[in-house]
Amino acid sequence: MLWSWLFTTQNVMPRLCVRFYKPSDLTLTSHHIMSLLEYTQPALSALPEPAQALLRNPTAQKTLAGVGAFLLARAANQFLSRCAHQNWTVNSAWKADAELVLLTGGTSGIGKQVMEDLSKQGVRVIILDINEPNFTLPSNVSFYKTNITNSADIAAVAKTIRENHGDPTVLINNAGVGHDGSILEEPESKIRQTFEVNTISHFLMVKEFLPAMVKANHGHVVTVASMASFVALGEMVDYCCSKVSALAFHEGLRQELRHWYNAPNVRTSVIHPLWVRTPMITMLTDQGSNFKQPIMTPQVVADAICKQILTQRSGQILLPKSQSIASVVRAMPFWLQEAVRTHASGDLRKMRLAQAQAEAVKN
Ligand SMILES: NC(=O)c1ccc[n+]([C@@H]2O[C@H](COP(=O)([O-])OP(=O)(O)OC[C@H]3O[C@@H](n4cnc5c(N)ncnc54)[C@H](O)[C@@H]3O)[C@@H](O)[C@H]2O)c1
Repeated sequence: MLWSWLFTTQNVMPRLCVRFYKPSDLTLTSHHIMSLLEYTQPALSALPEPAQALLRNPTAQKTLAGVGAFLLARAANQFLSRCAHQNWTVNSAWKADAELVLLTGGTSGIGKQVMEDLSKQGVRVIILDINEPNFTLPSNVSFYKTNITNSADIAAVAKTIRENHGDPTVLINNAGVGHDGSILEEPESKIRQTFEVNTISHFLMVKEFLPAMVKANHGHVVTVASMASFVALGEMVDYCCSKVSALAFHEGLRQELRHWYNAPNVRTSVIHPLWVRTPMITMLTDQGSNFKQPIMTPQVVADAICKQILTQRSGQILLPKSQSIASVVRAMPFWLQEAVRTHASGDLRKMRLAQAQAEAVKN
């Protein structure tokens, strides 16, 4: 049984590798396989007796075959996903001095960390933010005060950027807002602002800066979404809706790049962080131990974004990795989906109750 499994694996795996990597170089024959078996037979007899006995045990052989098949399927799945993400194309080498990164919301939180890390890698970065930086910019970073929800503002700054720096090759749609309050409590103006910054601005920025990437068939659009793209919670319904939209924007953009604009080498990445310790969530982090969910540093998210950019890899990244199961919540049975949402919303609800109690004690 073990030998037949080994035989099959040794036959199929090198053939697969040969198919994918060097189509004409090698042909695997039964002669090669017999030689491989000749090598493995003495290796087996060189093992300690208990290990040999274990490998001859039919149950152990079945388990090994199962584990082997699982690992093989997983490797094949990862390989195919990677190729599909890259639209089955290969990258030209990354040249930092030829790239220009345009980053929205770069004066605070995750964006600020991304700016610092890319600038240390020798990449030129342009920040568009509604707020001025309260720190000194590195020499290869420029800042333009811009409201990215306003297309006239974007058009004006785009003209200046092209005159002073050239066309951006990487666009990071990172700026975002998040407000607390239930649907009935939150004012209309804040709900509209959430959609304008977290979703509409992605359309406006891409309309302005994607054509040059399409023309060169080179570039990268990074969408900073959220775990909220997968799990909707009470008290942040507008935010969750805007992040579901950001994910749909990323998926649809990929389709248009490949099938409408004939630009398969323009990369696209979407990042889904859970909670990150930035000014956006001070209303939660100020609650101390009342807020019980795991919180990452901006560095964790910036590392993931920079890795996508520097390797020119498209992808969908969920952070922290331990919470990746979130992406399949909507495929779960309804009772389980509701249990996940109730658990996550429950933490926010408990925190609010604790806050209300603390205020009542104060007054
Ligand atoms: N902090 C978290 O827990 C968390 C979790 C998941 C996803 N995210 C996402 O990460 C991204 C970055 O958020 P952050 O946590 O660093 O928040 P942050 O508040 O620290 O930074 C957001 C930046 O966006 C800028 N901005 C807001 N509106 C703008 C506008 N109209 N025009 C230009 N700039 C504008 C702000 O001035 C600020 O500099 C956002 O898209 C957010 O939704 C954050």
